[in-house]
Amino acid sequence: MALVNENYLKLKAGYLFPEIGRRVAAYASAHPDKKIIRLGIGDVTLPLTPAVLKAFHEAVDEMADPARFKGYGPEQGYAFLREAIAKNDYQSRGCDITADDIFVSDGSKCDTGNLQEIFSLENVIAVSDPVYPVYVDTNVMAGRTGAQDASGQYEGIVYMPCTEASGFLPELPKGRADLVYLCFPNNPTGAVASKEVLATWVDWARKNKAILLFDAAYEAFITDDRIPHSIYEIPGARECAIEFRSFSKTAGFTGTRCAFTVVPKGLLAYDRKGNGVDLHPIWNRRQTTKFNGVSYPVQKAAAAVYTEAGRKEVRGLIAAYMENARILRERLSAMGYTVHGGVHAPYIWLKTKGQGSWDFFDTLLNKVQVVGTPGVGFGKAGEGYFRFSAFGEKSQVIEAMDRMAGGH
Ligand code: MLT
Repeated sequence: MALVNENYLKLKAGYLFPEIGRRVAAYASAHPDKKIIRLGIGDVTLPLTPAVLKAFHEAVDEMADPARFKGYGPEQGYAFLREAIAKNDYQSRGCDITADDIFVSDGSKCDTGNLQEIFSLENVIAVSDPVYPVYVDTNVMAGRTGAQDASGQYEGIVYMPCTEASGFLPELPKGRADLVYLCFPNNPTGAVASKEVLATWVDWARKNKAILLFDAAYEAFITDDRIPHSIYEIPGARECAIEFRSFSKTAGFTGTRCAFTVVPKGLLAYDRKGNGVDLHPIWNRRQTTKFNGVSYPVQKAAAAVYTEAGRKEVRGLIAAYMENARILRERLSAMGYTVHGGVHAPYIWLKTKGQGSWDFFDTLLNKVQVVGTPGVGFGKAGEGYFRFSAFGEKSQVIEAMDRMAGGH
């Protein structure tokens, strides 16, 4: 008799974004005449830029040429991309990260979800609340938690509430926590962490022999030079942090798929006897067993993001989305909403004026056919909040705001 992994049965609802999709599809089929504006999932709408496309096309042509054709690539990623990442994203900011520390992958969702596999099930994990659901759900699937309570929280996870009063920053865990997921700029609140704040986390992690799983997928949206783009800008972070980065939101790769994770060589976790074990070869072992790398043309396309033309074009993409964020912030504020985020992040986090998050979702969908993401979908502390993505088309963002101002 085949037994199911019962940990999956602890996951009560569907994954957040498919659940939203299901509700929107039901509404659309009942109201085929209504035009729905989707500002829910953070999916980009602007196409790949010319420099990226050129490199992509050229690499596809290479694959058609018997002399330049490539089969399996290195599971860790091609050296040309890892070196470009190390130089441009890290060394240029004074971070002691080299190409050898980097693993190229097909997405930060996969990496943030898969990485927990290399850690013991006995670890206590800590997450911010609200939180990107992947960190929690993948630990539930692995069996690192108990059941879900009525508020949607899982037994065994340390939740760090991020409230308006604390600027949506989590406090250091008071009790045991071994693996701490941090995301800055934050999805969903748009909050950012200063160097001082990150330094307190690095100190705490080093003292407690804990590991920070630092999701920096939105670093390209930071608009203030004083805010760190990487955890490795903090001295000592190599000894206690793994970082996730992605080309998805930065360069429009949500459908193209390319990201990377930094597992610094020499970063240690411990065996039961307290002996340090280098995590880099363990993650390498995992990747070489379960992953065959990202396709060559996609890696060539990603490397083009670091060329002079690529950089300029990508800055243009980001500026366009941040212009949407500005419109959303200003228009929603003018409608009397309290609005957070949208300054260093492509997400707007607004208070619903007292309505429950899902009620607000249903009201917006039914009255003005605008879709966002209910804050409570990211955790208990998200109740009473709602997230808008700034990745929509500008005309749609304006239309959504016109509809809300007129009809809600
Ligand atoms: C989101 O809307 O939160 C993002 O699309 C999540 C993701 O990148 O997987």
